[in-house]
Amino acid sequence: MATSHESLTLQLQQQERLHHLLSSLLNRFLTTEIADFKKRVDQSLAELGHYFAVDRVYVFDYDFTNQVCHNTFEWCAEGITAEMDNLQDVPIDVLPEWVNTHVAGETMYIPRVADLPEGSAVRAILEPQAIQSLLAVPMMQGKSCQGFVGFDSVISERTYTEYEQQALQDFSNALLGAVERHRIEAGREEAQRVLAEREKELIDYQEGLVRTLLRLSALRNNETGNHIERVQDLSTLFATILYDHHHPDATPLFIEGIRLAAPLHDIGKISVPDAILLKANKLSDQEWVFMRDHVRVGGEVLKDLQMQFPQNYFIQMAYHIALYHHERWDGTGYNQGLKGEDIPLAARIVTIIDVYDALRTVRPYKPAYSHEDAILAMRDMEGAFDPTLFELFLLHQEEIAIMFDQTFKAH
Ligand SMILES: [Fe+2]
Ligand SMILES: [Fe+2]
Repeated sequence: MATSHESLTLQLQQQERLHHLLSSLLNRFLTTEIADFKKRVDQSLAELGHYFAVDRVYVFDYDFTNQVCHNTFEWCAEGITAEMDNLQDVPIDVLPEWVNTHVAGETMYIPRVADLPEGSAVRAILEPQAIQSLLAVPMMQGKSCQGFVGFDSVISERTYTEYEQQALQDFSNALLGAVERHRIEAGREEAQRVLAEREKELIDYQEGLVRTLLRLSALRNNETGNHIERVQDLSTLFATILYDHHHPDATPLFIEGIRLAAPLHDIGKISVPDAILLKANKLSDQEWVFMRDHVRVGGEVLKDLQMQFPQNYFIQMAYHIALYHHERWDGTGYNQGLKGEDIPLAARIVTIIDVYDALRTVRPYKPAYSHEDAILAMRDMEGAFDPTLFELFLLHQEEIAIMFDQTFKAH
């Protein structure tokens, strides 16, 4: 017979192994990806089954809305028949004493099924499964019972100690935490999917809007239409260059915003009469006043849109670009005379690209410049551009010239 010292040592060793098992199960649940969840639970049931030498370990969910319970996970020792398929949608009202015990947060412990009274509903369910002893602890979320976790002994009767009951209860708590986490994450994934879908819809809608406006402007003046597409491509390229140079405001969202908003920079030209917009000769001073007014008109159109969608980043950016793309860094531009960083970055980018493109193409008052001549002319426009941006523009002028040629030839 073991001395009390030996038995204490044995108990401590057992407790330590169990502690180790439970903490590894818990840890596994905490780090599990949703996709692996079922596999992890199955593995954990198997480990518990082996450790406690039981014949079945299982998890049930209570569905009080539909008054049924389901066997959601099951592990069986070798040679033991699986019962999970037979235990779906089991009506709760068939087993009132069982369910009431769990709802009260208490353990269902049946050391000998054969001792249950003849005609007992619990016995009628357990006996066909050849269960001799059983232990089933509730999964409690606060005061609400979510289901239960249990051990079956099929081959022989079994007495479960308090210590084993406690271990099963600990496992049940860990599992409930994991189920809850799994449920929250599945919900979060679904929310993210819906959000991504909405975002894509919005971007498609915005792109559609831009394409429609591009088509409208191309109808009036093909050269203007092509100008708009080149400003889009070159501004997007330039924003990407800023991103590559770690400019703090040039995020991927900013680049996408530029791509969508830059084509709208001259949207205010819809208010310029054909006689001025399409005039083959130089504009008079009076006509220039009309022409310059496109900035105010464009700003107003987009301001209206912005009031309807105050949170929309793309519309906000398009508004800034339409209103401020003829401002100059030194404050001598139109139509507000903003200076330096008071001019939004997106507008400062489009200003440089817009001027470059205007120089490279034929206008009633000038021929098309070569890339080199355009750069010389821009260097002469001292004070017009954000110096940091202009330096980057010069640094990457080759890429910009190549893209200009490609976009120009495409039309
Ligand atoms: Fe303009
Ligand atoms: Fe323009």
